[in-house]
Amino acid sequence: MKRKLVSTFLTVAMAASLLVGCGGGNTSAPASTDTETKTEATTDTSTEAEATETTASGGGKVGVAMPTKDLQRWNQDGENMQKLLQEAGYEVDLQYASNDIATQVSQIENMISSGAQVLVIASIDGDSLGTVLEQAKEQNVKVIAYDRLIMNSDAVSYYATFDNYMVGTKQGEYIRDQLDLDNAAGPFNMEIFTGDPGDNNARFFYGGAIDVLKKYIDEGKIVVKSGQVDFDNVATANWATETAQSRMDAIISANYADGTKLDAVLCSNDSTALGVTNSLEANYTGDWPIITGQDCDVANVKNMIAGKQSMSIFKDTRTLAAKTVEMVDAIMKGTEAPVNDTETYDNGTGIIPSYLCEPVFADVNNYKELLIDSGYYTEDQLQ
Ligand code: BGC
Repeated sequence: MKRKLVSTFLTVAMAASLLVGCGGGNTSAPASTDTETKTEATTDTSTEAEATETTASGGGKVGVAMPTKDLQRWNQDGENMQKLLQEAGYEVDLQYASNDIATQVSQIENMISSGAQVLVIASIDGDSLGTVLEQAKEQNVKVIAYDRLIMNSDAVSYYATFDNYMVGTKQGEYIRDQLDLDNAAGPFNMEIFTGDPGDNNARFFYGGAIDVLKKYIDEGKIVVKSGQVDFDNVATANWATETAQSRMDAIISANYADGTKLDAVLCSNDSTALGVTNSLEANYTGDWPIITGQDCDVANVKNMIAGKQSMSIFKDTRTLAAKTVEMVDAIMKGTEAPVNDTETYDNGTGIIPSYLCEPVFADVNNYKELLIDSGYYTEDQLQ
């Protein structure tokens, strides 16, 4: 089944140059400045698998299924979407599933049976929702895949996401440019951490970065001393920080404990970057490597400011939520939903019309403008 994902990835590689960003989306995005909620959200997982709020209104009911409260971004995504949908007059059933597939399936079943007309789903495992979405289709409930594509289901009407391949490209280019791979003699030591194999995005992030870096690996300018290069060897189940950390512990002890310099760690996102950073702090004594990331989570932005993480990719969840709400609204009103890509994302049943928002490069030089001036975080949150 996963082989289909690879062909999806190849399609995106070819179409990458055609992609357009979320232009103008920011104008409709709300300023999400509820700092207290965001701070709590990173630590409080006690309300997992519970509905956060249900508000009645006359506009119809929308089920929003998010994967987990463990990662900061999904809390923001859920909150933003709930707020915008409610403002647009919809009743919202927002659920988090503790990264447990069975929990997510049963939450979606409940949403369908309790009368949701549209489902917005950020899947835990893109391949595991086929059966429950058959029920949605039978009852004419429309489905929007949110951020992560839902695979092998023809019940999916739309996909709203960021340009996932571009995320990986930006990470790979950052390492290429920082190490000056086209001019420097090298060789440079690099290790690789990507995400969950059940998350279609992980292959896009990995593929975008590897497409930039592969030639340097092939010519020996980049050396991956662990020998772990293929997707399956560098995947991180559930994108878990602890899993990345223990894998990095093992890599350091086998390859870098004798003072060998590690020049770069390609991390597909911030949760894996955090695990790598924690491990390096505990076990590595050489010069600090370049570390990439994605999401601009608070802990990682703090690490960027402290010089422990080199860059992250900023995906403004307000923009994605706003686009998705436009899609919901169009479905509810029977009009055309906004899409800007009809070539890239084949979920195994055909191309899913998509809206791809543009990811933005973030580092210590531009984070203030991107994150604070835009109201995404307050300065206090990053202290
Ligand atoms: C999202 C990333 C996120 C990762 C882990 C991916 O599907 O696109 O933004 O870091 O999941 O939650």
